[in-house]
Parts: sequence; C-alpha cells; structure tokens
Amino acid sequence: MIILGIETSCDETSAAVVENGHRVLSVATASSEKLHQKTGGIIPESAAREQLSCMIPVLEETLFQFQPKIKPQKVLEKIDALAVAYGPGLIGSLLVGVETAKTLSLVTGKPLIPVNHLEAHLFANWLEKEPNQFPQMPGLGLIASGGHTELVLVNKKGKGYQFQLLGQTRDDASGECFDKCARVLDLGYPGGPAIAQSAQKAEKKLINNPPFSLPRPMIDQNNLDFSFSGLKTAVINQARKLQQKNLLNEEMKNFFAWEIQEAITDCLVKKTIQAAQKYPAKTLLLGGGVMANQALREKFQKETEKLGLKLFIPKVGFCTDNGTIIAAAAHFNHQPVHWSKISPQSSLAI
Ligand code: KG4
Ligand code: ZN
Repeated sequence: MIILGIETSCDETSAAVVENGHRVLSVATASSEKLHQKTGGIIPESAAREQLSCMIPVLEETLFQFQPKIKPQKVLEKIDALAVAYGPGLIGSLLVGVETAKTLSLVTGKPLIPVNHLEAHLFANWLEKEPNQFPQMPGLGLIASGGHTELVLVNKKGKGYQFQLLGQTRDDASGECFDKCARVLDLGYPGGPAIAQSAQKAEKKLINNPPFSLPRPMIDQNNLDFSFSGLKTAVINQARKLQQKNLLNEEMKNFFAWEIQEAITDCLVKKTIQAAQKYPAKTLLLGGGVMANQALREKFQKETEKLGLKLFIPKVGFCTDNGTIIAAAAHFNHQPVHWSKISPQSSLAI
C-alpha cells in the first residue's frame, strides 16, 4: 500500500510517499519560517498564502523523488491512496492541503484518507522501523508541539488504534512557550531551536550557581494537566528585572535560555512519569516539534530506563510537521472518506 501524505496545518508545506506506513520513499517540505522570523511569530494569513505558493512545487518534488523518470501525472497512478491532515491547525493553511488532496482524489479516483495531525505525530514512531520493531500497545503518548501539549493512552482497536486523552495544557502549549519566551529574549523564531542553541552556550559557572530560577507550573499537582502561561509571565518579569539592572547580556541570556529549557522539559518529563505510574503502558511514544529538543530527548532516555518502558522518539526530522507522519497515520489508523465529506477543522480534538 503506497500512500501520498499531505501536511499543511501550520507553516510547513509537506508531501511524502510512504509504503505500508513505515517505508519512506520520498519526502519534500517547504517552510515559511523565514517569513515569520521577520514578525517573531506566525501571521496565519501570511502562512496560508505561502502554503498556496509552495503546495504544487512540493508535490511535484515529492513525486519526482519517488519516480524521477516518469511525469508527475503518471506517477500518481502508482499511488494507492491519498492522505491529508484535515486538523487541527490554522484554517487557511489547512484549506490549501485539504483542497489539493480533494482535487487529486476527484481527478485520479484514488481513495482519500483524512488524518488528525496530532495522532499523526505519534505515528512518526512507526516510520523507518521494521514490523517486528513497531511499538506494542498499550502505549502512553506525549504530543508536544507549537499548538498542543497532550498526554494520551493509545490502544489497539480492531484494525486501527484508539486514543484516550489523559491530560493536556490548560493554557499555552509547550512549543508556544518556547516560541514566546524566545521572543522576550529576542532570540528569533521558531523559539524552540533558538532557545536550545542559546542554552547550549550557557556557562557552567552560572548553571552551578544560578542567579535565579523559573517556576515549573503544576509540576507537583496530582493530575496530568500542564500549564505554561505562568512560566511565560515569569520569564517576562525576570527579563524586565535584568534589563532594569542592565544585566541582560549575552552570558545571562544563555543561562536564561538554559533555565527556560530546563523548566519546560522538567514539566513534560515529570507529568509523563506520573502518567506512566498510573496507566499500564508497555511503550512510551513521543511526538511533535518540541521532541526535536536534544535536552528533552536525553531526559526521557534517562527516565524511561528507570520506568522499564520501551521508549520511542521519532528521528528529529519526523518530529516537526511533515507528510510522512500523515501517510503513516493513514496507513495504520484511518478509513477512506469520499472527498465531498472532508473539510478542514481548526480545533480537532484527539
Ligand atoms: O509539531 P510542530 O512542527 O508544529 C505544530 O504542530 O505546532 O511543532 C512546532 C513547535 C514550535 O513551537 C517550535 O518552537 C518547536 O516545535 N520546536 C522545538 C525544537 N524544534 C522545534 N522546541 C524545542 N526544541 C527544539 N529543538
Ligand atoms: Zn504538528
């Protein structure tokens, strides 16, 4: 089964051809990140316009990589089904991918599979694995992205999978917190990689002798929810204090970034451990853009060894939004729907 997956939920335009949900045959992704660097964050209208100009070239590139000697129109004949992220995401961005996929389904007659893009982040863990290495169920899933932070229990159900929401952020998402804190420190967009880069340069003398610490909201509460907006406010207040004293120099900024990264990753890891102690999971499945963070990956590696869970973290390129995860989710967990029944959903729940 060969699936062409399309992802346009935010600022990436991506298409990929994946065989049997795990073998990546080709992938092309364009990002409008550079545009959003100018504004320090995403303006949905600009992101949607970029999707429009990138969608067809990205499709062409993916089809070319898959079958370089054949015209794109003919390559489509070699595809068994189309899959598209129909939510959650920015409505203008989603529209571009969804309408493109519907059009392809209409003209080729190929089945079209709508995919929840949050679920897809977890199916990144099936990519480039052999079937005997696929995650066993039940699995505990943590999705940490720019728009969402959710803990879910994943189980097999019939031929597919079902997701039970265990906890989620009550305000900002973890990726959003990275992005907004980076803006406060003037580190650039997207904030996650910018903070990680700055944190790497933090000096040991400040780490060992911290000039201040940031809160880890809700970390000791007996529930599986997250909260990041208080951390963001603490960052704004701390930055103001340091600026007033003329202390927000390069060295201090690097320590600041390190402490932000520590605070966010501590919250993610601690709540996941709490969930693992409460629910009988065999595997821990991580996914979403924030999982590209090296410090977080290392913390999870250390903690899951203690918990005796088998840990699955997608390779960095499969953490952020892209077509491969959509094709994987479509293969393992979805049924085709007639194109006329699919429309983009901005706030689709898991
Ligand atoms: O999953 P994703 O590509 O898009 C959404 O579904 O939102 O996640 C994007 C988020 C952004 O907030 C970005 O700052 C964050 O993932 N991110 C990171 C890193 N790379 C991307 N956060 C922390 N460390 C990183 N290395
Ligand atoms: Zn995403």
